[in-house]
Amino acid sequence: MTDWISRWENNRIGWHANQINRQLIKYLEMLNLSSGDTIFVPLCGKTNDMFFLLEKKIKVIGVEISSIAAEQFFTENNLSFSISKVDGFELYEGDGIRIYCGDYFDLKFIHLKEVKAVYDRASLIALDEELRQKYVKHLSDIISLDVRMLLLTLNYPQHQRSGPPFAVSKSEVDELFRGSFHCRELYCINDIENEPMFQNLGVDFVEKAVYLLQKVRV
Ligand SMILES: C[S@@+](CC[C@H](N)C(=O)[O-])C[C@H]1O[C@@H](n2cnc3c(N)ncnc32)[C@H](O)[C@@H]1O
Repeated sequence: MTDWISRWENNRIGWHANQINRQLIKYLEMLNLSSGDTIFVPLCGKTNDMFFLLEKKIKVIGVEISSIAAEQFFTENNLSFSISKVDGFELYEGDGIRIYCGDYFDLKFIHLKEVKAVYDRASLIALDEELRQKYVKHLSDIISLDVRMLLLTLNYPQHQRSGPPFAVSKSEVDELFRGSFHCRELYCINDIENEPMFQNLGVDFVEKAVYLLQKVRV
């Protein structure tokens, strides 16, 4: 976690995209959200995808360990915000958006009770194998039944480079979410030709996948 904080302090945030994620644009409708509904963006960084969601009139709740990320989201998008202390978090709040600045694992059901959907891009794959299991278990504990989730993952031969981002295969996704979520793969392609950093390291393939999950009764 301290490593993430120092990445933000040193502006080593290579994952941050200026463009809105194309898979979010393509698959947002699969989340069945209506205007005014709330989406949860775990490990949100300062992703511009949150701004896109706000423009779609979808309310956003994020959680992010770095206060630099939380603050930059608002300042770079010219959004006014306030900061308050809530349940051990610093809460950055603007029109339609709340970013809990603190540890994802400290979030509770009460913070997310109105959430109708989850958007995970570069969050699960930011974590090592042990933390991924903890992340999914915790997610299942803090969201309501029937909540839908769009999950974007990467898979590549892990022995050819170290994470983050970590490789997460379809079988791992099935295993992680088995029991408490229904899982459907929406998309999967090998996109190595658009990944020069992976190519330079001699990585054979980079599969990019999108899953639609839904929390079900166990
Ligand atoms: C790879 S980045 C992805 C950010 C964002 N999802 C995006 O697409 O740009 C992972 C983010 O998770 C944050 N993070 C890591 N561990 C966390 C934790 N336990 N609680 C909250 N945020 C965390 C990091 O600071 C970092 O901003």
